[in-house]
Amino acid sequence: MKITERNLRRTIRKAVSGLLNERADEKEWAYLLSSPFSARNALAAHYCDHYDADSILEVGGYRNPITQFYKGPASRITMVDPMLTNSRQVHKTGGNKCNVTQLRGRLHDFDIEPHDTVVCLGMSLYDTDTNEQRSYDRFKELCKSAKTVIMEVPTEWEHSVNSANDLMHTLPHEKIVDISMDFTPSNVKDIEKIHNKRRLIVLRNESRGKN
Ligand SMILES: C[S@@+](CC[C@H](N)C(=O)[O-])C[C@H]1O[C@@H](n2cnc3c(N)ncnc32)[C@H](O)[C@@H]1O
Repeated sequence: MKITERNLRRTIRKAVSGLLNERADEKEWAYLLSSPFSARNALAAHYCDHYDADSILEVGGYRNPITQFYKGPASRITMVDPMLTNSRQVHKTGGNKCNVTQLRGRLHDFDIEPHDTVVCLGMSLYDTDTNEQRSYDRFKELCKSAKTVIMEVPTEWEHSVNSANDLMHTLPHEKIVDISMDFTPSNVKDIEKIHNKRRLIVLRNESRGKN
């Protein structure tokens, strides 16, 4: 195996996984799966419900996708991430049927129809420099046609902050929710840098669709 920085981090992570938070393992961003940080996912699910989402697209759902938190009556949920496995299922919650699709890949690899709600937590849509812009442009288009956009960013990560600012300034949506969170006192452990300071934003475009 080639010794890259990423492989080295994975090996170290495997070796010390017992010292990490309760759901950590050899994967990157394990701290995002911890109990304190899952408050972000719970908040996102709350706003999907609060704004009566019928179709939800989550980009970058990682290993804590929105379906683990959202139990509302949406009829369609699509999740895209290179870390997901491909699957199509019908979930039944409280008598409602929901078509749930997981797509393994980058956003720009698929031709995804508009959804009324777009969710992106820990926003960082990148791969190679060339593909980064393609996914981001597609993401922005899908946000433009959505009624609700729920995004969450680490506030000390310039790349994510720039994307959030761009979306807030260029989408026709109004900012409704803007919550600052600081997980520092929760003292979550990981072997990589933990981005404790976070911001969750909900944008709404009332002139879009029925929800
Ligand atoms: C920092 S993690 C955030 C994980 C999770 N949403 C959270 O906040 O706990 C970013 C996720 O975005 C995914 N990702 C990066 N570029 C992407 C792209 N172009 N299309 C879809 N997912 C992407 C990564 O694979 C990763 O799972």
